Amino acid sequence: MKTEVLAGLAREQKRISPKYFYDERGSALFEAITELPEYYPTRTEIAILESYGDEIARGVGDSSFLIEYGSGSSRKIRLLLESLRPSGYMPVDISCDHLLAAAEAIASEYEWLNVYPTCADYSSDWELPFTRDGVRKVAFFPGSSIGNFEPTDARRFLSGVRRTVGEDGALIIGVDLKKSTDVVERAYNDAEGVTAEFNRNILHHLNSRLKGEFNPERFEHLALYNEEAGRVEMYLVSTTRQTVMLGGEQVSFEQGETIHTENSYKYDAPEFTSLAREAGFNLGGSWRDESNYFEVFLFD
Ligand code: AVJ
Repeated sequence: MKTEVLAGLAREQKRISPKYFYDERGSALFEAITELPEYYPTRTEIAILESYGDEIARGVGDSSFLIEYGSGSSRKIRLLLESLRPSGYMPVDISCDHLLAAAEAIASEYEWLNVYPTCADYSSDWELPFTRDGVRKVAFFPGSSIGNFEPTDARRFLSGVRRTVGEDGALIIGVDLKKSTDVVERAYNDAEGVTAEFNRNILHHLNSRLKGEFNPERFEHLALYNEEAGRVEMYLVSTTRQTVMLGGEQVSFEQGETIHTENSYKYDAPEFTSLAREAGFNLGGSWRDESNYFEVFLFD
């Protein structure tokens, strides 16, 4: 982590990977974001799963083993578990404590379900700790988390999912669609400032993990939709000229200098379908809301 973070902060455009948002406080702040009136993706995806869960389950078929990439999307997984009734459920997440707590709650709620929490960074190399014969492996990647990858990396990631679920496996994935700039920008600049606090929390996280001395209050939240690139870009802007200790090294900022903390890509349906096809997935079905904000895809 230290090597990766310091390398990112030594670049011309400083950057920190968005995976470092999610310490305990970061996960809680993200939960709060999902409930904001401006942040449409979560409630839209939940509504889609509520309306079409049974159709999605029919597309998957009986006898499945569900692998969730990233856990914490508690309401979504419950909807899918109830529609799919898989023989096993394996949530995979980098944030281990959070993962185990969520998995225990699910396990005690669904007595018929075998739960196999797996602590791993699914964005790098990892392998299923075991496999099962005679059940269809189904990957679930909700929340448009795919949007955090550069499109090239998204393709590579999806190829990895293909290998993980095998040729007869499937993928259920939620994707945030391209839409008007003002709707998107509002979602990442909420009135309460929760997203700003979530963004700044990445510095709190570095402070505790890497003996950092950031004063997060000396950085401002900036989020804008780069329509041409089809992505939201999030930055922390240094409000002063400052030098900060991190992991035993000094990192210097000019006033107004930015740290890039996140890209969140938006896709349109044909674009995403062809990306998935390049990773070896064929479209099995797709479901969206009435405003065309968000789409859930089933790939075979
Ligand atoms: C978890 C990556 C899907 O991009 O919308 C929310 C993260 N960042 N508000 C997103 C996020 C700022 C979120 N994802």
